[in-house]
Amino acid sequence: MRIPPAKVYFSAEDQRAVLDLIGNCLSNGRLTMGAYGRQFEDEFARYAGTRYAVAVNSGTSAIEIPMRIFGVRNREVLVPANTFFATVLAVLHAGGRVRFVDCDPETLSLDPEDLRRKVTPSTAGVIVVHIGGLVTPKIEEIQALCREHGLFLFEDAAHAHGSAYRGRMAGTFGDAASFSFYPTKLVTCGEGGMIVTDDKRVRDEALLYRDQGKVSFTQNRHGKLGYNWRMSELHAAVGLTHFRRLEEFIAERTALAAVYDRGLRKISGLRPLAIPDGCRPNYYKYVALLDEGISRSRLKARLREEYGVGLSGEVYECPCHLQPIFAGRFRPGDLPAAEDLCARHICLPLYQGMGLDDAGYVLDSLDKVLRSECK
Ligand SMILES: Cc1ncc(COP(=O)(O)O)c(C=O)c1O
Repeated sequence: MRIPPAKVYFSAEDQRAVLDLIGNCLSNGRLTMGAYGRQFEDEFARYAGTRYAVAVNSGTSAIEIPMRIFGVRNREVLVPANTFFATVLAVLHAGGRVRFVDCDPETLSLDPEDLRRKVTPSTAGVIVVHIGGLVTPKIEEIQALCREHGLFLFEDAAHAHGSAYRGRMAGTFGDAASFSFYPTKLVTCGEGGMIVTDDKRVRDEALLYRDQGKVSFTQNRHGKLGYNWRMSELHAAVGLTHFRRLEEFIAERTALAAVYDRGLRKISGLRPLAIPDGCRPNYYKYVALLDEGISRSRLKARLREEYGVGLSGEVYECPCHLQPIFAGRFRPGDLPAAEDLCARHICLPLYQGMGLDDAGYVLDSLDKVLRSECK
């Protein structure tokens, strides 16, 4: 494929740096819960602008642990219908119930009006997801609503390393937030996640939960219903090295996005998601909305087969309430904005190491296919 949908990128220098760190772990025998994990936490917290960070083994556990700490058992958590299913699973595994909220198609995030309608006496809190790496400018309205109703606000920032709104980083708007280091993300360590918070109680409890609910590392005494959610030192070595490149990665993606922004103005059949004032996206995804009537599956197949262009995975192609696991509980039309968004958007390829001329080639290919599709 000439332009793959995504690529994992470690420079030769970073590959050597990772191997050095892993070599140190193998020599000193400290393979989990050691200095690299703590260093990753410290640097991540400093960058994100939070007091604390706790490294865990996935972005999913980075949601489930705070859900347990916030006490969602037998209570409702308001969750966007257009998110990755992990957001839902983390709430369910923590014993909570999920109530879906429709999206605001201009920002891909929660629609504050629908959010207000969905609050009940059983609501414990709200999860906002920074879809595609964009923090909604309505975040302050969402914060105010949570304060008014005494709800926790949690940010699933799995997509949003380094994203910001009005100079405030993703991860600093809620009572706590989670990040994912899955290979598709801007920063990866293979598998891993990070919880960030300013709340010492959340940090202290997260440390216990991630290590089988033990009261301390050296004692086999268990005070909480924890699990093995630890991050190994080997993963921390990879994540720490990659993370130090985050600002470079965002700069590179922003330059590619600018090429797409300019080029898409001249192409009919779709419009890019407009970035609202004050937002600094990390361009985890470059999202564009197809005009009604254009078949996304045909467009994707033709781009791949005729031009060797792989569009990146959607965020997301099917809303959570219409997933087979909920069969019979919801009907199409229940969350109309999320359903429409999921059905009609595409994500253009964007990755570290992609050239500006590659972005130009994607635009030309898209133009040719859309012209023939719209005839
Ligand atoms: C929005 C969102 N939440 C949570 C997760 C879960 O992260 P992980 O795969 O690291 O468990 C992902 C991962 O893709 C995600 O996209």
